[in-house]
Amino acid sequence: MTILITGGLGYIGSHISKIANEKVVIIDNQSNSQLNYKKKLPNAEVFIEDLKYKNVCKIFKNYNIDTVIHLAGLKSVNDSIISPLEYYSNNIISSVELLQAMIKFKINKLIFSSSATVYGNKNKSPLKEDFLTQSINPYGHTKIIIEDIIQNCCASYSNFSAISLRYFNPIGAHSDGSLGDRPKGRPLNLMPLIVDSVFGKKLTVFGNDYPTADGTCLRDYIHVMDLAEAHLICLKNLNNIKYDTFNVGLGMGISVLELIKTFENANKVKVNFEFGERRLGDAAISYADTSKFKNRFNWSPKYNYKSMCRDSWSQNKNN
Ligand code: WQD
Repeated sequence: MTILITGGLGYIGSHISKIANEKVVIIDNQSNSQLNYKKKLPNAEVFIEDLKYKNVCKIFKNYNIDTVIHLAGLKSVNDSIISPLEYYSNNIISSVELLQAMIKFKINKLIFSSSATVYGNKNKSPLKEDFLTQSINPYGHTKIIIEDIIQNCCASYSNFSAISLRYFNPIGAHSDGSLGDRPKGRPLNLMPLIVDSVFGKKLTVFGNDYPTADGTCLRDYIHVMDLAEAHLICLKNLNNIKYDTFNVGLGMGISVLELIKTFENANKVKVNFEFGERRLGDAAISYADTSKFKNRFNWSPKYNYKSMCRDSWSQNKNN
């Protein structure tokens, strides 16, 4: 079986590419990846191109693709607020062009990279898949729109089936240290910034006056290896699903401060941080109800917070 991974050179895509048993074809424009893929993903066929209809058709003409894992897209909440039209254009139009090519070549199986951001900041955790989605930023709105587009494709095209995976917060890295969360430019997510703080770039904790035990925000982090594994499980089970959405998280929240302490204890290092103002749009508490995925596929994440912190550090300290 051959799979196409859009955005396969990114943090999550590269981990899926590395552990997939299937032959992997990747299309990625490297807008947010500096991965030396020839060295780190030697078995993957890589096309450095934009996710455009004609580029995808070329791949479908030359490879017998069975399933598409669609990760490509802009993913910064902050940037989406600054440049909403860039996000609507890039994320939605490229997804529609991918779908048009899939329908044309009768490629009927899709796994979509959605996000916990679709729950907004009013839903009460633990967050369930049947909760109302709520767009509080253009990035999250694109995920809601693309989920709906895919669901409508499943309804309209009789053989088309798909799963939308709502990722919580992926952190960690493959134990061999070859891959990691190293976006182009300054990272915005917490874990890469915790790592950088050990090297002296002070981390600002956004708010310590939230209604939580220690005043800092609670999030649900999942090891990127567990997240990659969850995709392979969906790959195996997509024949029996028409359309469905699943949360993929640990199902257990941890505060920013607790994660900092876990990181320090796991790695015997000091995180250099200070408290600052709250960040606009942050939910105080956000963590997953993971029972739907567990009950449907009889699978739960294997890695705990200590191993997530250990693997995040061991991957980055060498870089
Ligand atoms: C986590 C916590 C911050 C940086 C986002 C997207 C989500 C997904 C993951 C793409 C929050 C705090 C952070 C800092 C801090 N991305 N923090 N200081 O916002 O939960 O989720 O990234 O799919 O869709 O919404 O992740 O890592 O930005 O923040 O205190 O310098 O760390 O306030 O509580 P977030 P994050």
